[in-house]
Amino acid sequence: MTNIKNSEHDVLETPAADVTAADAPAAPADVIDFADEYGDPVRYDLEYGTAGLDIAFYLALAEQADGPVLDIATGTGRIALALTEAGHEVTAVDVNEAMVDFAIAKDADETVTWVVQDARELKARGKFGLAIVAGNALQQLLTNDDRTAALKAIYRQLAPGATFAFAIRFPHVAELARRVETPEIWHSYTDVTGSQVVVSGTQRYDAASQVMTHETYRQYAVDGTPAAAPTTTAVRYSFPQELEAALAAVCFEVEGTYVDFVGTPLTDQSAATASALVYVCRKPETTKR
Ligand SMILES: C[S@@+](CC[C@H](N)C(=O)[O-])C[C@H]1O[C@@H](n2cnc3c(N)ncnc32)[C@H](O)[C@@H]1O
Repeated sequence: MTNIKNSEHDVLETPAADVTAADAPAAPADVIDFADEYGDPVRYDLEYGTAGLDIAFYLALAEQADGPVLDIATGTGRIALALTEAGHEVTAVDVNEAMVDFAIAKDADETVTWVVQDARELKARGKFGLAIVAGNALQQLLTNDDRTAALKAIYRQLAPGATFAFAIRFPHVAELARRVETPEIWHSYTDVTGSQVVVSGTQRYDAASQVMTHETYRQYAVDGTPAAAPTTTAVRYSFPQELEAALAAVCFEVEGTYVDFVGTPLTDQSAATASALVYVCRKPETTKR
């Protein structure tokens, strides 16, 4: 029932195995007032906030890093808080003030330095030993110009020899081509009232811009009534060689390219069942900029 390739976060979602109702979400109305996917941090955090196969991966990189960690597009602090709990010094930035405010509220001991900032214009204090962009957030930058601006800003924030790691959804071509007009069920979560909410959505890929647009619907499992306003998101897909060129243009050296968070290298074979596209890069010790 769950389609792992379509959801907002492949690595974070809750399987919808025990969904009992609303198996056939209502078809969307002709005119819908879509809300911001990141406008309700409470809902977002319940749906995606704490778990993730990627946490151990970023923790291991932080252990090896020489210096503090910069978590870019931190959301509600899923990775930042896990890193700081493990004793790492962390600065976490996100462009969405509501998300950052919610993350701050979760950080009772004020262990993380939280900053509302756009990834394209990073101005965090100090130089970092590790920068991460987790949870497919790099895909939020829809154009080459925006992504390059973010990569350059990240590069500037790193100390020589520091690591930059990120993960995005793997661009499975068959999945990109699969147009979904009637919402299909992705996963489910339990909301603040303890009720199960079924999450479903559509997808439409624009092959020219490499941008996938999703409409997302959330309905109570018990009776199919709306549990939240529908949201819409646009995410840009990238292919391995394209990413290598983008990283090289900013002078990052790619140390490893993986298809999961346990170090399976990207190959023609592993790509077939890839759950993610994961990069570990380095800023050279001797830099030109
Ligand atoms: C899918 S969430 C990922 C959150 C977090 N990294 C995680 O793994 O749980 C994407 C986040 O990217 C943030 N975001 C989108 N565009 C951004 C930008 N230009 N600069 C900084 N953050 C951005 C959104 O506000 C949202 O919190």
